[in-house]
Amino acid sequence: MIRFPRTVVALDWTGETAKLLKVRIAGSRSQILDYAVSLPAQARDIGPLVRDFAGRFRKQLHVTYPGRQAQIRQIDLPIASESDLASSLPFEIRRHVPFAGTEDWGVYYQILRKDREKGRLSILAAVADRAERGRAVELLASGGLEPRRMELAPLAAVNHLIHAGERDTDDCWGVLDVGATGSWLVLKRRGAPLHVRSLPVGCASFAQEIVVRCGVSRQEADLVQRAEISLSKVKPEWRDRTATLPSLLRNTLDELAVETMQQINQFRMRQGPVRRLHLGGGGALVHGIATVLQNKIAIPVLPAHPLQAFAIPGTWDDKKRDHFEAVSPQFLVAAGLTRWWER
Ligand SMILES: Nc1ncnc2c1ncn2[C@@H]1O[C@H](COP(=O)(O)OP(=O)(O)OP(=O)(O)O)[C@@H](O)[C@H]1O
Ligand SMILES: [Mg+2]
Repeated sequence: MIRFPRTVVALDWTGETAKLLKVRIAGSRSQILDYAVSLPAQARDIGPLVRDFAGRFRKQLHVTYPGRQAQIRQIDLPIASESDLASSLPFEIRRHVPFAGTEDWGVYYQILRKDREKGRLSILAAVADRAERGRAVELLASGGLEPRRMELAPLAAVNHLIHAGERDTDDCWGVLDVGATGSWLVLKRRGAPLHVRSLPVGCASFAQEIVVRCGVSRQEADLVQRAEISLSKVKPEWRDRTATLPSLLRNTLDELAVETMQQINQFRMRQGPVRRLHLGGGGALVHGIATVLQNKIAIPVLPAHPLQAFAIPGTWDDKKRDHFEAVSPQFLVAAGLTRWWER
């Protein structure tokens, strides 16, 4: 099928930091038109922020919702029309997840691949809490936003990685997204249900550890965590001590590693060893975090660079390019929301 070029605006916002991408999807490589990271002071500020960013493409809005309890499966089916699929899928998925399609649990799906020769469709089907999705709709509606598409955050991230060349082999691999208040982990093996879990440790716990350990304010801790200010500047008594970020965050990083390993061990017993973890979210920007987690978990932990999938405007100066590259891991979900691979 030939698709016309189109522009999509992706918004990854669950009440804290908004990540926005505007992408033109056409030809061999999609192009970023603009990107933004912003922390709206209040929920109602999201509307003007998005409208301002999206301009005339505000109707092409793709958004995320958290899906903390989601059950996700990859299913292969004979090729069917969209309407046949919508009616048959709940029955199909109920063989695996008995409560799918009930009042509380909606069924949502995405087509991963269509193999016309074999007549098969590969689908990612999610059973997700309708109320959680409903809350996201309400939150956006309070800002006057009506998204065209809504997707679960872990699905968007996994989908991006698969299409960006992550080999969808029988190997197990996963994504760890370290967000503002918590993190989520998704572990995947082709054909097996995705293992999606939320973990209690996030960037707020990092900042809290800096506050307690160093006796600084929360604002100062945030700046230290972002390496925007050195600790010795805020607290001269730290001048003579070794204060790398991983050492300041050691308790929280330990906790994150232990929680992650517990999930990996559970998954491994059923599905085999997990070969690598892709690290995303704002927490992936903490200096040294990937190396520390890799040493603790003893599998490769790779910071995700989702924005490499896009061409960037030639008009951007070096400063903008550098910033764009530096924040890339935080855009893993937003990149997946654009569905750039549907050219
Ligand atoms: N350059 C940076 N260095 C270190 N930490 C950073 C940097 N930039 C952002 N962060 C941290 O990342 C956090 C935001 O991460 P992210 O955007 O993934 O959260 P979120 O998606 O809003 O949260 P959630 O997914 O939990 O709802 C900020 O709270 C901040 O602590
Ligand atoms: Mg997030």
